[in-house]
Amino acid sequence: MSLGFSNSTILVVGGAGFVGSNLCHFLLEDENVAALIIVDNLLSSDMCNLPDDPRVTFLHGSITDNRILSHLPRDIQYVFHLACYHGNQSSIADPFADHENNTLTSLKLFDTLKDFPSLRKVVYAAAGCAVAEKTFDEAKSTTEEAPVSLYHDSPYSISKLIGELYGNYYFQHYGLPLVKARFQNVYGPREILGAGRWRGTAHTVWRNVVPTFVWKSLHSEALPLDNGGNASRDFIFVEDMARGLIACALKGEPGEVYNLASGEETTIWDLAHMINELAGNKTPVDLLPPRDWDRSGKRFGSTEKAKEKLGFKTQISIPEGLEKTLLWTIREKEHILRTMRTHSYFVPEVDKYITDRSKRGEADDR
Ligand SMILES: NC(=O)c1ccc[n+]([C@@H]2O[C@H](COP(=O)([O-])OP(=O)(O)OC[C@H]3O[C@@H](n4cnc5c(N)ncnc54)[C@H](O)[C@@H]3O)[C@@H](O)[C@H]2O)c1
Repeated sequence: MSLGFSNSTILVVGGAGFVGSNLCHFLLEDENVAALIIVDNLLSSDMCNLPDDPRVTFLHGSITDNRILSHLPRDIQYVFHLACYHGNQSSIADPFADHENNTLTSLKLFDTLKDFPSLRKVVYAAAGCAVAEKTFDEAKSTTEEAPVSLYHDSPYSISKLIGELYGNYYFQHYGLPLVKARFQNVYGPREILGAGRWRGTAHTVWRNVVPTFVWKSLHSEALPLDNGGNASRDFIFVEDMARGLIACALKGEPGEVYNLASGEETTIWDLAHMINELAGNKTPVDLLPPRDWDRSGKRFGSTEKAKEKLGFKTQISIPEGLEKTLLWTIREKEHILRTMRTHSYFVPEVDKYITDRSKRGEADDR
């Protein structure tokens, strides 16, 4: 398959992570990708996500580490910067770790890349949640030009914006060919519950709403709906996200920002019921009060600019994407349980998923 890269050397920072690893697997389907360098410190990811391909070089460490930066070949053509300190709750628990892995990362990477002679594009994973208006009334789609508040609910959100600001600075000052891809909520295979090191809260295990709901639903549990499931999000399947990132690299205008979104608003209530139906879970949902830090409410992204300028639109519907995610979770259940259990000291509830089969390390037939 040809994606449009010609004899290219590509760097993916954060390439062992959920989105990064899906992107790497996708990129390697293109035989014109000559070399793929992955830098990751495995802070919120697992080695099993890394592709097994002779074109891959894996540098295990932080992109803030000068030894790693000095090892990067200077003839890299494309860079995808997907490293972050995952996620909002972890950043509230440890804003300094967030700064180190979500802000300093971008600064040191951009500062190093400014001198690379063959760079065609640097794609930065920006966050739509940092820009979206905070409302529980009817949401309007968030455009790329939407105003940005100076008041944020988490250090993570601040860091994602600082990444954009540094990117803009290096673009204007040094001509760094930076394209900002603003993600909505990504879901799909290779988002491994519990992947990586303990980051201060149970969200180290539970990460995001889709993998949590899929796991709990497969175990016939009540899905917890914060704020009665009233909030809404724009869910984008990870394969679509990989396509969108590649479109940003090949067609994005340096200095520009593009939403990568489905443009569809789905309430958490609807999401829970779709997942329960797919998993055959009859246990009623658990209605909970709002999370105290989260005032984000309802939101979804505008898709117009990405459609017009990049020719990008999503291809996978939510029911289709959820089914793929559910099947992957069933297949990878033992791997996922292994990473969840590395945090059982802090989150003892994960031990309840251990069966005799998983103790023996056997795969479930389901
Ligand atoms: N998943 C989403 O819904 C979503 C939404 C908005 C933005 N994003 C952005 O997309 C990117 C990828 O997110 P994800 O969901 O795949 O998260 P992830 O946690 O799976 O991936 C992040 C990766 O970065 C690595 N990393 C952390 N610190 C690092 C460092 N100092 N040096 C090198 N690697 C480091 C982690 O180990 C991990 O592999 C992030 O930048 C995130 O902010 C994701």
